[in-house]
Amino acid sequence: MTSAPNTPYDQLYPNRFDAADFTREETYKYTRAPVEAALTIIPEAYTSAAFYAIEQERVFGNSWVTVGCTSQVSKPGDALVVDVAGQSIIITRNKAGELRGFYNVCRHRGVRMLDAGCSALKASRIRCPYHSWAYNLDGACIGTPLFEGSDIPADQQGIFDMGGVDKFDRADYGLFPVQVESWGFLIFVNLNENATPLADALGDLPARFANYRLHEWQVVREIPFEFKANYKLVGENFMEYYHLPWVHPELIKVSRMEDHYRWQGKGMYTGMTTWPISQGDEGSWLGLPPMAGLSEREQESARFIWLFPNVALNVMPNHAFVMITRPDGHARTLEQTYILCHPESLTSETAETEIDQLASFWSLINEQDIDIVERVQDGLGMRPYRGGRMCYHFEEPLHRYQNMIIDKMVGLDRVPDGDAEPQIPMFG
Ligand code: FES
Ligand SMILES: [Fe+2]
Repeated sequence: MTSAPNTPYDQLYPNRFDAADFTREETYKYTRAPVEAALTIIPEAYTSAAFYAIEQERVFGNSWVTVGCTSQVSKPGDALVVDVAGQSIIITRNKAGELRGFYNVCRHRGVRMLDAGCSALKASRIRCPYHSWAYNLDGACIGTPLFEGSDIPADQQGIFDMGGVDKFDRADYGLFPVQVESWGFLIFVNLNENATPLADALGDLPARFANYRLHEWQVVREIPFEFKANYKLVGENFMEYYHLPWVHPELIKVSRMEDHYRWQGKGMYTGMTTWPISQGDEGSWLGLPPMAGLSEREQESARFIWLFPNVALNVMPNHAFVMITRPDGHARTLEQTYILCHPESLTSETAETEIDQLASFWSLINEQDIDIVERVQDGLGMRPYRGGRMCYHFEEPLHRYQNMIIDKMVGLDRVPDGDAEPQIPMFG
């Protein structure tokens, strides 16, 4: 490991980096140092289109990427169309209730068949708009009108003589499958056919959230945001609370600085918790009743997880605010946010009002973050800036995350270990 203190940064990184450098371990040597001596990852990670192209392939094309919530595809015949690493992916729920994923391309002449977003498929079929080939919820090709002549009235078949396609068998022309899995209320896609199971990436998160029964939670609000900034900056901003006093005066009333702990075990994530949640004068998190079955500690805690590479989970005893980011170029991020609740938290008559209030509270916090994160994107383009020092009290999660990014960029598949204790003070 190489530590970086006491040397001007422009001497540490004498050269600008280009595409050939981005997959080399040497390029990142100062971010590989222990957090108290490390520099943040090279600015090109946020400002270079060449870095972005490689990252799409090596990170988004080779990780369990969160793409949506299970309640968006709750019934057989529902479909969700998402973009992962520049690939359009269809997610369906089949007759057996299982999630299935396919590339959104017709096996005939290559049409992108469905538009992005959620829909209920007509007759539970994916039908190509071009020549109407049809696929079932498991991706099997079940209709090729006119192609084989089989569904044409007998007296007209002569004009559709397809003698030349004798060797055609529909069974060979199902949709190209993609790995899809879910955990709790989240849906994940991995474009790497040989990916290790989602469970390896999640590490101890399922155990940490066992009492929350996340698979039963429902989306109650959905709000889109856009950042003119790299998606990693959205994540890095989320995973430190150092900025709270200056950026979020409202948030520190419910999540006090001194009540933050690291909450981070083995897994492809960073984690913090606030305990106990405070009752703020505005923007209270505690209006809705908590779901049943949580421990006393869980009823008083807020969990903040950034799940590699692209999603933030804010989980309270009575609701969750989820931010799914999707990079759209190196300096633009589309963020779809969701408020979810367990049905047991929605029983009160005032539930709708409470949810409205949560939506405006989270939107306020998010707007504050958008402003500051866009300023970081702007600043990272300044020539002399070649990385900064991390405040190790607060920014160990950033260091952990940037090292996960580096691992993927240089081709290392590994899952970071966590702390020995489930919950440790971050500033002690
Ligand atoms: S391209 Fe899809 S049916 Fe022809
Ligand atoms: Fe923030």
